[in-house]
Amino acid sequence: MDRVQIFDTTLRDGEQAPGISLNAAEKLEIAQQLARLGVDVIEAGFPIASPGDFEAVQTIAREVEGPIITGLARAQAPDIEAAFGAVRDAARPRIHTFISTSDIHIKYQMQNTREDVLAQARAAVAHAKSFVEDVEFSPMDATRADLDFTAEVIAIALAEGATVINVPDTVGYTTPQEYAAFLTGLYERVPGLRDVTLSTHCHDDLGLAVANSYAGVQVGARQVECAINGLGERAGNASLEEFVMLLHTRGDVAGLETGINTREIARTSRMVSRLTGYVIQPNKAIVGRNAFAHESGIHQDGVLKERTTFEIMDATTVGLEGNDIVLGKHSGRHALRAALEELGFTVDGAALNTAFKRFKEIADKKKQVTAMDLEALVTDELRTEVPGYTMEWFDVEASTRRPPHATVAVGRPDGETVEGSFTGDGPIDAIFHAINSATGVDARLKEFRVDAVTGGQDALGEVSVVLELGGQSASGQGVDADILAAAARAYVRALSNVCEKVRVAEATTDPRESEMPLTGP
Ligand code: KIV
Ligand code: ZN
Repeated sequence: MDRVQIFDTTLRDGEQAPGISLNAAEKLEIAQQLARLGVDVIEAGFPIASPGDFEAVQTIAREVEGPIITGLARAQAPDIEAAFGAVRDAARPRIHTFISTSDIHIKYQMQNTREDVLAQARAAVAHAKSFVEDVEFSPMDATRADLDFTAEVIAIALAEGATVINVPDTVGYTTPQEYAAFLTGLYERVPGLRDVTLSTHCHDDLGLAVANSYAGVQVGARQVECAINGLGERAGNASLEEFVMLLHTRGDVAGLETGINTREIARTSRMVSRLTGYVIQPNKAIVGRNAFAHESGIHQDGVLKERTTFEIMDATTVGLEGNDIVLGKHSGRHALRAALEELGFTVDGAALNTAFKRFKEIADKKKQVTAMDLEALVTDELRTEVPGYTMEWFDVEASTRRPPHATVAVGRPDGETVEGSFTGDGPIDAIFHAINSATGVDARLKEFRVDAVTGGQDALGEVSVVLELGGQSASGQGVDADILAAAARAYVRALSNVCEKVRVAEATTDPRESEMPLTGP
């Protein structure tokens, strides 16, 4: 079968989704998991955007083995130099540069001319090519652009040595037939396109991102840009898991395959959801908790008799079932380490000690600690690396007869511990306000969500909080057998994240907000 390359942009386009604030350790953890998943390319970020973005891309380039590592760059020399600086240490580095070819972007966003675009595209690809062999070029908003002009720009990019041409449906406007016709039109106009990889990048504004990507590969594209859980600007990008499982399940009609280890899909999806705070809707295809659940009696009956009566995929193929690691309160450090290793986490030294301590606390409260619990715990531990505030302890008095009162102690970034108390509407409200009072930070709660990691009465609780401060918003998550402890942990993390975002926003001018804003790609 013909192979389609999977280009994952969770850490770049996905990270542009509102409220996501991944720190460097979290980005690295996701990138390592993407490598285990078997993606061909990781777009690790937008290095010019901030020193933090640059460092995260550089760390991934240095530490993640397997996939090509790329960084995004506008068609401008400083962006390209930053992208090169960040990816240069990767075993297989790529620079991805882009410029819009639609008149609407040329006139209103960039306020220049088609001639300027031709010149900038030429100079950008040539500049990138002076640093690395592998250069990807994207004519942004291509699907709303003039086909002949876009072909002209692509021909120039190819003449300068671009190795991948990506055709973005930036605003999720196209339809499958239209997209296929556009790509075919490019092939007809630019014969050299057959000698390089043609790529799709489809947004989901009309819910067609996966369908459009599929239309693209049917007419010859051999790279698909997508993101875990379909994360991305606005309605997001093509969902990696949906596109991959489409080719996997319908290989009979598609005749195409990917290098993805599908059994890693569910775990990757959960990790990304947990670290970004973006919940997976229950009926989401492939990874939603109901994606393999049968409610109606007729369906249940059919599946019991023969699974294929109502299932086109097997839950074990995407890693949703079949992971039967179970530890109990007598399991030792060695068993924990081995179980984590089996799950793909290498945890040693101090991190293992911390994980073991948390594991013991949980195992005391829960009879059985499952693979999903361990995953949640380890991801939760990773969160504690976020610099900023830490939750030391809390006391809460709650009763149906008096308003609940909380007292908390919070560790400040300078090492000092501060205390605060508050009488609130409920125990969680009291804890959250007491944290604000202790830290003196008047953050506003925008979202609050509680989920159970697994089923059963003794399930671990997972809390996600989104806070707003000074025009910035950020999320934080916490996992614990005690829901109040999980909520306090989540709140303090969100507080650290939002304070950091405010600090960075005040210290840097993000080029995405300068003369050529990037909002929308
Ligand atoms: O949607 C878009 O056009 C993009 C480009 C930067 C590839 O994300
Ligand atoms: Zn995009």
